[in-house]
Amino acid sequence: MYDLHCHLLPGLDDGAQTAAEALSLLRLAQHNGISHMVITPHINPGHFDNTKAMIHKGLVALKQLAKEHQLTVRLAAAAEVRLCAELPSWVETSVLPYLGEYQGYKVLLLELPHSHVPEGTDRLVKWLLGKNVLPMIAHPERNREIQSDLKKLQPLLRLGCLMQLTASSVLGDMGERSQQTALELLRQRTFHIAATDSHNQHRRPPKLAEARDLIASLCGDDYAQLLVVENPKAISQIHFNDKTYV
Ligand SMILES: [Fe+2]
Repeated sequence: MYDLHCHLLPGLDDGAQTAAEALSLLRLAQHNGISHMVITPHINPGHFDNTKAMIHKGLVALKQLAKEHQLTVRLAAAAEVRLCAELPSWVETSVLPYLGEYQGYKVLLLELPHSHVPEGTDRLVKWLLGKNVLPMIAHPERNREIQSDLKKLQPLLRLGCLMQLTASSVLGDMGERSQQTALELLRQRTFHIAATDSHNQHRRPPKLAEARDLIASLCGDDYAQLLVVENPKAISQIHFNDKTYV
């Protein structure tokens, strides 16, 4: 399986804080059946001011650690970028790392505030599409406005945004509202990928296999396979074919 949203570059965000913690998460992920990971530290101005260079440096160190411990999981890195005023200038100046590519677009893992969908998000998405950047919305099932009214997602879906389900949401670990919203969006086949959004062993450990099995029982094996293998593999393959891709 492919995991395209997780936080385990030590010290870059609120995910793994130490090399030992990152290593135990890598072991858990591999044991869970994850063969490829694109690690996505937060980029959020004033909170997590990560740059492409910092992320790349963290990835090189983690790959070395994984090699020393004979882990076989393949590693790459991108970022989970918070919707913010700086976003257009970051796109213009090519400073953001991308999850990969899909239908000729670069894929940006975009995090909305958890409380609502800000006014003008659809205009920003149109602008991004014009710059050949396709947003993948991180865990829409955890957004409180979307939980109350699924129609809030429609403008973004109509524009072609990709949607990422967090495995622990559908398993119920993120609370009942996230789970119910995830189940309804799964019923509507809204999601393009499922990912762990893992942070540490206790808070959001990698449970992609458990989510895949639940999705398969609800929506069928084909859709489950699409979410944890086929789509994330297609999007991220450029990272694993071309090691210089950022
Ligand atoms: Fe995340």
